[in-house]
This record gives sequence, C-alpha cells and structure tokens, in this order.
Amino acid sequence: MIHVIQGWTDTTGVRDDMQGAPTNKPVTSEEIRRAWLDFFKGKGHLEMPSSSLVPHDDPTVLLTTAGMQQMIPFMLGREQPPRRRLVSIQKCFRTTDIDSVGNLRNLTFFEMLGNFSIGDYFKAEAIAWAWEFVLDWLKLPADRLWITVHPTDDEAVDLWLRTGVPRERIVPLEENWWGPPGLSGPCGPDSELYLDRGEALGCGRPDCKPGCDCERFLEFWNLVFMQYSQDEHGHRTPLAQKNIDTGAGLERLSAIMQECRSVYETDLFRPIVAGVERLTGLTYGASPEQDFGLRVLADHGRGMTFLVGDGVVPSNEGRGYVLRRIIRRAVRYGRLLGLDRPFLTHIVDLVIDRMGKVYPSLIADRERIRQTVATEEERFAATLQAGLALLERWTAEARDRGERSLSGELVFKLYDTYGFPEELTAEILRERGLTFDEDEYRRAMEEQRARSRAAGRFAVAGRALGAALDVPRTEFLGYEATSAEGRVLALQRDGVPVEAMGEGETGVVVLDRTPFYAEAGGQVGDTGVLVGPAGRFLVEDTQSDGAGHHLHLGRVVEGVLQLGETVRATVDARRREDIMRHHTVTHLLHQALQDVLGPHALQAGSLVSPDVARFDFAHPRP
Ligand code: SER
Repeated sequence: MIHVIQGWTDTTGVRDDMQGAPTNKPVTSEEIRRAWLDFFKGKGHLEMPSSSLVPHDDPTVLLTTAGMQQMIPFMLGREQPPRRRLVSIQKCFRTTDIDSVGNLRNLTFFEMLGNFSIGDYFKAEAIAWAWEFVLDWLKLPADRLWITVHPTDDEAVDLWLRTGVPRERIVPLEENWWGPPGLSGPCGPDSELYLDRGEALGCGRPDCKPGCDCERFLEFWNLVFMQYSQDEHGHRTPLAQKNIDTGAGLERLSAIMQECRSVYETDLFRPIVAGVERLTGLTYGASPEQDFGLRVLADHGRGMTFLVGDGVVPSNEGRGYVLRRIIRRAVRYGRLLGLDRPFLTHIVDLVIDRMGKVYPSLIADRERIRQTVATEEERFAATLQAGLALLERWTAEARDRGERSLSGELVFKLYDTYGFPEELTAEILRERGLTFDEDEYRRAMEEQRARSRAAGRFAVAGRALGAALDVPRTEFLGYEATSAEGRVLALQRDGVPVEAMGEGETGVVVLDRTPFYAEAGGQVGDTGVLVGPAGRFLVEDTQSDGAGHHLHLGRVVEGVLQLGETVRATVDARRREDIMRHHTVTHLLHQALQDVLGPHALQAGSLVSPDVARFDFAHPRP
C-alpha cells in the first residue's frame, strides 16, 4: 500500500546528473529493472513501490492491470502526488485470454515498468526520453525500431520525426487509444514502440508491419498521453492537467535484451520452467503440446503465487474466481503432463525462489501461499477425475447423436457438482471441436441463484412479513437518536394488511420514520417499544423488507394501535449499546486478524448481537 503524504510536494529530487548512459547494456531482468529506475530517477522521478494486485480504491476494477492505476487519483487531481514525476515497477494481472495462456504471447501475471508525469512534462519529453532510453541505455538498433501512433495524433508524429525516426516507420493505428481500466477515469491517445525481430519470425505478407498478428513485430512499450477524463457513459472531457503514463513489459524487454523468442526462455521464467521439467521429467522444446502445458504451469504458478500473496482467496466470485480458475486449470494441465499427485506447492516454491528477492513478502508468506494453493488443489483433485469421466461420456454421447454442442445443463452440473469452472469445460470441449449452449447454462445458473435467494428470503418470510408494501420508504433516524416520533403507515397481521391491531395480537408495524435499526450486514435488529395514543406495541425484532421499509415485529401488549396514528418509537438503548460495542469489536478483530494472519483475512460475514459477536473469515489453516 502506498502512503502519500497529503499536501507535500517534493521537487528537490529533480536532478539531471546522469548525463552519460552506462557503457554496458542491461541484459538480465535485474539489470533492466535497475536501468529503468536509474534512468528515470536521473530525470527527476521518484520511485513508487508496486501497489497490491488487489486495487485499493476502485471497486469497479477486479485486479491491478497497469502501473497507472495507483496514480489515478493524482492524474485526476484528487490527491496530491509525492512528486510530479514518478517511476515504478508494478505487479499486474490480466484476465483477458486466460484460456489461451500457454501460447507464446499471453501472460496472466507480469511486471510493468512505468514512468509517469502528473501534470508535469508531456508528449515531447515522454517521446524524447523513451527514444533516449531505448537507444542509449538499451542500445537497441534504431533501424529496427517502429512506432505506432493514434491516427489523430499529428503532434506525436512530428515529435517522433524530430527524434530521427523516418516517416515510413511511423504507423497510424486506430487501436492506439488507452484507458480507463475501470468504468471511468483518465484516458488518451497512445504511441507504441515495436522491435522488428526479423523476417524469419514473420508471416511473409508484403504489408506486414506493426499491428500485424504475426510474431515479427514485438510491441514492448506504450506511451499514453492522458489528456481526457471519461465518465461511465463514455463521455470525455479534457483534463485540466495533462499526464503521461507509460508501460513497458519487463518480460518482453527481457526477451528482447536476452534475445529469446519468447518470455518463457528469459531469466524470469527459465528457473521455473526448469523446475517444472524436473517435476514432470519432460524437456521443454520436445513437443508443442507438452510445451503448452509446461508454459501453463509456469505462468499460472506465478499468477497464483502473487494473487494469494496479495490476499486473494479462491472463491466463486470476482478475483477469488480468477484465482480458482487458474489453480484448477493448472491442475488439469498437470494431469495432462502426467502429474497425478498434488504438485502445485512445488511450483509455488519455484516461483518464490525466483521472485522472492524482488518481492520479499513472498518469502515471509510462503507457508500461507502454499497452504491456500494446496487446499484448493486438493478440493478440485477430488472431483477432477469423476468430472472428466462424465464429460468424456457426455461428449461421446453427443457425438453419437451427431451433435456438436453439449447442453448448458450438463456444463452447469459440472460446475455445480464437480467444481469445473465454465471456462475450463469450454476449453476442454474446444479441444474436441465441441461447444455448449451458453444461454441454457446461464439460465441454469440464474435458477440456482434464484433458489438460494428464495431460501434466504424464507427465513424472514417465515415470520409472516406478508404482502409487498405500497408506502414510502422508511426514514432511518437511528444514527442520531434512539427515540423519535413516527406515523403508522402500515399494519399487518398474519401477513395481511389491517387497519388496527388489538391487545395480544402479533404482527408488523411500519412507520414513516424510525430510530429502529433493521437487521443488516450481520448486525441484529433493534428491540424496544412503540407507544401510541391508545396502546403499546412491544418490538421484538426489526427487519428490512429489502425495499427500504423497516418492519417492526412484535405484539400489542396494551390497548390498540391504528393506522395513521403518531407513536413514540423508543429503542432498548442499553441493548443497542451492547450491539454497538460488539460492532466495534468486529472492526478491531478484523484489523488484528489482518495484522497477524495477513491481508487475506478479510471479513466474509459476521453476526453482531448484544451478547455475542461472530466474525467469519477464510484462512487456509486451523
Ligand atoms: N496504461 C498503459 C498500458 O497499460 C501504459 O502504462 O499499456
């Protein structure tokens, strides 16, 4: 986590004393990291540590996918940056194309080298410095470098021409537009640097150039000129301050500097791949199918280690589901490579041995990461064989019937009963030239959700809460008061609306405003009393109907209560205070668990009542 000192801007570090580039070019990934930081520090940039893979402040983003994410509040002018020039090496995780990871191109986890200007320098410097770094520091041959720009960005073209790039190697590309990572945020045109790796890797088409699908031109650095802010509807307005956000993949730069065809041959991956070779007894490079599997294990091994390291726990939702998917996909590829015993902790160890020096927290968290991964592996391994056997049978039957598609119900059953992520089943089917009925799958999933919602609702409905209410939402006063006046808007007895309720009768009272807290977020509802002009109602519980009404549940202990009356609603304040203390306790416990067990010890649920507090969280060990 980054701690930014508000209101403090350091400009004293702006120095230009690194005139001369080092004589030797960086080759190892460690040397590349160093060169990157040194170069930009020499241009007055302050180093920011990598933020977590779990975005800190943006609920619309699942995972950190770019170095600029932690800079967004600075770029939008909402927070003061510690300096206007920043440099970082950011852990990133991208979920697009997880199913094709194993090919030579895609990675889930990677590290992004970035330099940022927060309303300081703009295009001219960003371009000139990128050029200086690749020529003088990386010592790449200028005649093999290509540039792409957004078709509207003539200014960028001029600036590149000024550095000496010939016009024929500046290619306009429509997709050179970046951001924002979430629903809204900063964005702008971008410009990318490519290396021509030679015709031997190319498709041979005469018009092959950057943007082509083949392996010849490798994009390795993206310069984004952040000049707009985009809202949720895609509407853009110019930013008051213009920013620079650049990102270069460490893995790709390593492949370039180490002259490897793929990132898997670089020093970042080689020890991991070698470990997987030892584990499987296979040799990388011997067969395309096996290579694919070896790469899956190497990539997913890094992905799962870093995700768990940053506190993600396998689950059926959100980032937990991403983690679950890669663990389960890795287990399946392990089986295909002949590993039929648990093996993931070995891969986690390989990753930590390789990356721990740069990310020491991995070493400290080694046991927790191993445990989390091992538990999930075990869970899936138990059903994998049975699920695969069923899938075999179903696909054979479908084929016999001359069908090329499996029913969505079956794919749902594999998910629900055997724990096969939908995407994994889809991938296995694809390998056999089959598809499945996705609409039917979604319907089955939706029906199950509706069933569990109904089950959850029943617990409350079981108390005869009755028909939907056609009255305004209840105004909640309970943050300020424990006693207040309110008007009776609705009365229900046995779930049926009534005009009045007499002594001894039980039911529900709805007021226009109330200090009674309705059970939510694990905190129990308030109890107390409603006193009207002609009667008293003892409130035994307060529930919400999910539509904004607080339902006072209880019975008339004296006299009568009628529609339209004004009553004084008084919460049992002593009990409420006990509840509040327990509420505070869960917050303290939450922090303590995170301090002691780690950042993954997140609240999964809780019960807060006057006598007891329960706190749910996931941790892989007793
Ligand atoms: N945000 C841009 C990218 O991710 C450059 O850092 O490519």
